[in-house]
Amino acid sequence: MSKTVKGFSKFSKGEKINWLASNFFDDEKEGKKILSQYLNEDQKLQQLHDEFIENTISNFYVPYAIAPNFIINDQPYTIPMAIEESSVVAAASLAAKYWSQKGGFRAEVISTIKVGQVHFMYRGDKNELKSYFDRVKPELIRGTDHITLNMRKRGGGILDIELRDKTEKIEGYYQLHVTFETGDSMGANFINSCLESIARNFETEHIEIVMSILSNYVPQCLVRAEVSCPVSDFAPEDPELYARKFVQAVDIANAEPYRAVTHNKGIMNGIDAVILATGNDFRAVAAGAHAYASKSGSYKSLTQAEIAGDQFIFSIEIPLSLGTVGGLTRLHPLAKLSLEILQMPTARELMQIVAVAGLAQNFAAVRALTTTGIQQGHMKMHLMNILNQLEANIHEKELIVESFRGKTISHSAVAEALHKIRTGH
Ligand code: MEV
Repeated sequence: MSKTVKGFSKFSKGEKINWLASNFFDDEKEGKKILSQYLNEDQKLQQLHDEFIENTISNFYVPYAIAPNFIINDQPYTIPMAIEESSVVAAASLAAKYWSQKGGFRAEVISTIKVGQVHFMYRGDKNELKSYFDRVKPELIRGTDHITLNMRKRGGGILDIELRDKTEKIEGYYQLHVTFETGDSMGANFINSCLESIARNFETEHIEIVMSILSNYVPQCLVRAEVSCPVSDFAPEDPELYARKFVQAVDIANAEPYRAVTHNKGIMNGIDAVILATGNDFRAVAAGAHAYASKSGSYKSLTQAEIAGDQFIFSIEIPLSLGTVGGLTRLHPLAKLSLEILQMPTARELMQIVAVAGLAQNFAAVRALTTTGIQQGHMKMHLMNILNQLEANIHEKELIVESFRGKTISHSAVAEALHKIRTGH
């Protein structure tokens, strides 16, 4: 046996697992048992998952949870979240409840324009290129008619094609910058098919196409969400002080990239969890969101907080390219169920829900950071992970959870307490 392999994709699933087990597992039997424990008994369902990707050997579970009591534009929502990190769902639920008592979240979609580009090289006369482009532009659009037919019926399609001169950055480099509306689908396949058709029709012996691909940077596919309340309602004690500290914390994230990255990571805890639960592409959203956070030239917070008169106002503005049809959204049974839990939102509604999840998550994190500190809540949730790691039984778990109520939790303190229960000293 060897640690490299030829023709692996042609192996059956069993052969793949055998190859893996004999080359990499310390205990072959145990490794195979774990893989098979995570397979679904329902053959059809397992096959569906197998076929999402290549070389599937099992499933990798992530907990699927709900955060209830969100009020968004006066409508109640229960938000499904798929995430492995302790305390994210608890924090979202806490923020939902807190703001539901203060009128809830307001959210609005600012725009839904998506972008794709044909990147090409051309070393001839610029004016000739410009007049060639102006001449063929209607044909380029017409050439995609068969691809865009259904999308046009749903109100989407190609908005415009622009020739962009990028020769200041790379000699001979130009783009066709194409804008799209894609309705309720994220539109990645649609955009890429249109771009490849445009590129084929645009290419000449002097125009060398380098590549055609959508952009995950979508600053014009933008959503805004906000919460506000009188400063005096911000906290039961010292509301002015805590509202001010909260605003200062967000100001720090705007001024200091080291803090901004962690601050935005907390936002993405909420956003990614909903995106994953609804079968959307969290890598695309994360890449676009972080690029947007850098749009000023330095990396900043995606949220803003201010005290205006007697009001505390907290908001997020984030680009989100999402779909509620197409991709995995209706194919993955749990993604489909998530959309049902969200009352079958349009893509625009899902943008609002996801932005709210990000804002809520950030609110919970910054409020904890500026009051009790983050570890109290984190370690409380992490206690179960520690207990599971130490293989505590139900009885031991109950005793330890009770004895650590209100106390500082650390791995060693829990291990010591468990040792005491087990040995009596
Ligand atoms: C942890 O996953 C996220 C936080 O670090 C976010 C933050 O610091 O704002 C708590």
